Amino acid sequence: MPAQHDIAAETELWDTFAASAFKGDAEPSFCWTQYAGHGPGPELLGNPRSVLEIGCGTGRALACFAQRGIAARGVDLSPVMVKKTTEKWATTGAEFVCSEVLEYLSEHAEVYDAVYSIFGAAWFTDPGRLFPLVRQRLRRGGVFAFSQPPAIPGAYGPQGMYKGGFAGKAMFSYRYSYRPAVWERLLTRAGFATADAQVLDAPHPGHIGTLLVRAVAP
Ligand SMILES: C[S@@+](CC[C@H](N)C(=O)[O-])C[C@H]1O[C@@H](n2cnc3c(N)ncnc32)[C@H](O)[C@@H]1O
Repeated sequence: MPAQHDIAAETELWDTFAASAFKGDAEPSFCWTQYAGHGPGPELLGNPRSVLEIGCGTGRALACFAQRGIAARGVDLSPVMVKKTTEKWATTGAEFVCSEVLEYLSEHAEVYDAVYSIFGAAWFTDPGRLFPLVRQRLRRGGVFAFSQPPAIPGAYGPQGMYKGGFAGKAMFSYRYSYRPAVWERLLTRAGFATADAQVLDAPHPGHIGTLLVRAVAP
């Protein structure tokens, strides 16, 4: 049975996250993994003239693109985060929109050279609904790439996660986890011409790696 997302409740959860995760003195930085300076960089997206980050959070990655003169738009569910990022990165030219990603992609027909997500909305959204919409919003040959933690062996599909400890207000969201071959299948079924999903090892043996997924529109 598909997970039933309660978007109002998830918005409250992500507003709480924004209050602690956003650092006013942050610099622009781009990293697909949880480990600074580890793994490939933005070159995975080719040489885009326009990018859309889905679940852009702190906006640090988007600010890198905007500073290079690339049209950079981010969508995020949290009004608290979008207010902070709009103010923080105003001088870079990056644009931040507060919206649920499926709603945004359904209602806005603009197309991009690249769509990406770094531990963002691609992790928290049903891929069966998200991927066809992303595909429609990419130009011919456009790239969709995202990163997140790899699946825990045996735990596949939507994973319910409580925020913080296991006491206090019951705030939770769903994250989606699959084996790399399943991600590739979901992407090609959604109409992508090619799809490649791999787990990149962490810089230290035995630490949590990073799932890196890249797909190209026909
Ligand atoms: C782990 S955080 C962001 C990570 C981001 N790469 C950063 O540097 O801050 C995930 C972000 O995805 C956003 N998000 C979660 N579900 C979403 C959805 N359905 N639509 C849009 N944004 C969503 C949250 O509001 C949150 O800011």
